Amino acid sequence: MIHLTVNGDPHSAEPGPAESLLSMLRNRLGLAGSKDACEQGECGSCSVILDGELVCSCLVLAADTDGSEIRTVEGIADGDDLSRVQEALLAEGGVQCGFCTPGFVVAATHLLDTNPDPSDDDVREALAGNICRCTGYGGIMRALTALREDS
Ligand code: FES
Ligand code: FES
Repeated sequence: MIHLTVNGDPHSAEPGPAESLLSMLRNRLGLAGSKDACEQGECGSCSVILDGELVCSCLVLAADTDGSEIRTVEGIADGDDLSRVQEALLAEGGVQCGFCTPGFVVAATHLLDTNPDPSDDDVREALAGNICRCTGYGGIMRALTALREDS
């Protein structure tokens, strides 16, 4: 049995020996916001913040997260209000089918939390691990640029 904190709430789970953090979040803790696409660390749709680091949860062994603090996309919004990253993605057309959006929201939130005034290159580097099949990335970049200009 492992014990961890997810979005500020304590959780316990008994993951399988080879189970990923992504699987544990989605299938044992009922947090399905982190998306399961490639399961190989290639697409970023499963991004979460683990003890302050942005990680692909499909590449992390659930059993190794005992005692960890995790923030998922479910922990980004401010109650019923969208976060400023979520608002900006909506306003700038950075969301189409939305499958990649949770990963982008988590990655962009982590970027702005750790670097409040990122350059274009910082933004591109921070989001380089996140793949979107729909938007062409223009709306996503505009959203991050708008946030930077607002701050
Ligand atoms: S599902 Fe984890 S990186 Fe694609
Ligand atoms: S909005 Fe469809 S994959 Fe990004």
